[in-house]
Formats: sequence, C-alpha cells, structure tokens
Amino acid sequence: MFHMFILFCLCCWSLTGVFGDSVSVMEGDSVTLYTDLTEIHEDNDILWKYGAETSLIAEISRAAGIFSTYNGTDGRFRDRLKLDNQTGSLTITNITIEHTGVYQLEISGSKLTTKTFNVSVYARLPVPVFSRDCSSSSSSSSSSSNCSLVCSAVNVGHVTLSWYKGNSLLSSISVSDLSISLSLPLEVEYQDKNTYSCVLNNPISNQTQHLDITHLCHTCAVSVSLIVPISAGSLLILAAVGMIWICRKCRKTVQEVQTREDEITYAEPMFYKRNAQKSKTEEENDVVYAPVITRR
Ligand SMILES: *[C@@H]1O[C@H](CO)[C@@H](O)[C@H](O)[C@H]1NC(C)=O
Ligand SMILES: *[C@@H]1O[C@H](CO)[C@@H](O)[C@H](O)[C@H]1NC(C)=O
Ligand SMILES: *[C@@H]1O[C@H](CO)[C@@H](O)[C@H](O)[C@H]1NC(C)=O
Ligand SMILES: *[C@@H]1O[C@H](CO)[C@@H](O)[C@H](O)[C@H]1NC(C)=O
Ligand SMILES: *[C@@H]1O[C@H](CO)[C@@H](O)[C@H](O)[C@H]1NC(C)=O
Ligand SMILES: *[C@@H]1O[C@H](CO)[C@@H](O)[C@H](O)[C@H]1NC(C)=O
Repeated sequence: MFHMFILFCLCCWSLTGVFGDSVSVMEGDSVTLYTDLTEIHEDNDILWKYGAETSLIAEISRAAGIFSTYNGTDGRFRDRLKLDNQTGSLTITNITIEHTGVYQLEISGSKLTTKTFNVSVYARLPVPVFSRDCSSSSSSSSSSSNCSLVCSAVNVGHVTLSWYKGNSLLSSISVSDLSISLSLPLEVEYQDKNTYSCVLNNPISNQTQHLDITHLCHTCAVSVSLIVPISAGSLLILAAVGMIWICRKCRKTVQEVQTREDEITYAEPMFYKRNAQKSKTEEENDVVYAPVITRR
C-alpha cells in the first residue's frame, strides 16, 4: 500500500512537477496543449510562450480584442498553430523535431496561473533491414552450419535496435545521437526453427522486421557454393585468355612504338620549318608536344 502511494506520488511529480507536463509526439502528428479551462473569462489574458527565450507564439485577450498566433522568432511556427477560441488550448499541427522544447502557458486574471509543457518530438522510424554477412561465414564455410546476419537501420537517433528470439531479448544497441547508422549482428544455425525478429524503437514507437532464415540464409549459401567450383574452373580459362591477351598486347605495343617512331621522323621536318621564327625555349616545348599531335 505504501509502495503504491510512493509510486503514485512519483507519477504525479514527474507529470506535473518541476518539469511540467511531458508530452511525447511523433513527427508529422498534431499535438494539443490544454489550458484546462472550459471557457475564457472576460478578464482572462492567455499567453503561450516557447523556448528558453520565451518568445510569444499565441495570445488571447478578450478585453483588448486580441486573438492571434505568431510565427515565432525564426518563423518555425508559421502556419502550424491553432488556438481554440473556447478554451485557449494550443494545437501544433504537422510538428517537426525543431518544435521540441518547453512551452509555457500564462493565464492572467484575478490571479496568475502558469503551466509548462515539455514537448518531445520523435522521428518516424524506418523498418530495420537484414543483410547476410557472407564474408564472415565463408571464412569457416565448410565446417560451420551457421548463418551470419546483420540487422541495420540508417539515419536514426535516440533509438534502440534489438534482436529478439521469440519474446526474449538477445542483444541490443542504443544511440542517443541524431542521425547515425546502427547495425547489430546475429548468428543462427541454418536449421534453427525459432522465430527471430529485429526491433527498432524509440520511447513512443517501434518497427519490427521478422527474420526468415530459409529465405535470407539460402541466398548466400547458394552463391558461396556456386562461386567455389566456378572460380576454380574459370580461373584456368581466365589465365589462358589473359596470357593470350597479354601476348597480343605485347606485339601490338611493339608495332605501335615502331609506327610512332616513323611518324616522329616524318613530323620533324614540318616542325622545324614552323619553329624557324620562334625562340629557342619554345622550340624545345614544341618538340616534346610533337608526338602527341601526330598520334591523333
Ligand atoms: C523534457 O523531457 C525530456 C524527455 O522526457 C528530458 O530529457 C528533458 O530534460 C526535459 N526538459 C525539461 C526542460 O524539462
Ligand atoms: C508570419 O507568416 C505569415 C505567412 O505564413 C506572413 O504573412 C506574416 O507576415 C508572418 N508574420 C510575421 C510577424 O513574421
Ligand atoms: C469560435 O470560432 C468559431 C469559428 O472557428 C466561431 O464560429 C465561433 O463563434 C467562435 N466562438 C467564440 C466564442 O468566439
Ligand atoms: C509537414 O511539414 C513538413 C516539413 O516542414 C513539410 O515538408 C510537409 O509538407 C508538411 N505536411 C503537411 C501536410 O503540411
Ligand atoms: C553457431 O551459432 C550458435 C548460436 O546460434 C553458436 O552457439 C555456435 O557456437 C556457432 N557455431 C560456430 C561454428 O560458429
Ligand atoms: C511495439 O509497439 C507495439 C504497439 O505499437 C507494442 O504492442 C509492442 O509491445 C512494441 N514492441 C516492442 C518490442 O517494444
């Protein structure tokens, strides 16, 4: 009973205590911050402020006839705010990561009431992808009946990536940074009949990919077993073709060098003629360039 009470108090404290209301929302969704008023009295002035600089983003003053939303200092709230004219509650539509932060509500009237909302916006998660790690299994392919896999997620932040066998957690990796790539390996036997899944989650959502061992481990196993005999046979053929090609190339380059030498001797008189009017240094340059021009 006492424990329950402590737990209850802790919940209250974390929800409405020094940090204010905690609101978690997914990128692209809308979130409403409630004033808890049922109606706005004539003498109520309502101010909504955002961030450390507490910039005014919305205000209602019935006495002054003001009912407005603002874009915020850097325009990040442009076209995204909706004020409820009955309750003064503020709705942020199509929210993005940059709307994360503390929102402050001030209701002035007979007395001043303030309320803060700590809004956390989480990115939409991609579905994690599997890839077969062929490199590590081929090194011990003949003796091992194992299949090495990697589950990965790119461009994620504030997430955990985990491997589950049935409902039990096998391994996991967490990242608090923004926008990095995560990957987590797993080794299973080809004959394993358990269900494996890879889960990517943040505090408010998750994405799961279920592993199909026969499908995923099949692809690499086939390519590994095919490559070995093919490469052994084709290596000989390749070597033979390569040697023939090299011999041809050798003969060809010898011929080319010979013809090029012929061309150079032909070209020389022409360039000497042209260089007659030029300085000595330019003449040397022209001689160096001559073979390039005659080759075209
Ligand atoms: C807002 O909430 C987040 C996550 O719940 C927490 O990490 C952060 O410290 C809070 N910020 C403030 C100013 O309360
Ligand atoms: C806010 O943005 C709107 C367009 O959405 C623009 O017309 C208006 O001038 C902006 N107001 C301020 C104060 O920047
Ligand atoms: C609130 O706004 C709606 C339209 O959005 C209007 O019909 C209604 O009269 C307004 N109510 C008050 C109390 O201003
Ligand atoms: C939501 O915001 C994003 C980023 O500002 C924008 O690209 C998208 O078009 C918006 N979607 C809607 C439905 O307004
Ligand atoms: C194969 O994987 C299992 C776990 O799935 C592991 O216990 C075993 O040692 C692995 N065998 C080899 C040869 O790597
Ligand atoms: C994933 O989210 C669903 C609800 O969307 C929840 O039922 C499930 O337990 C979550 N799974 C994990 C592993 O967090």
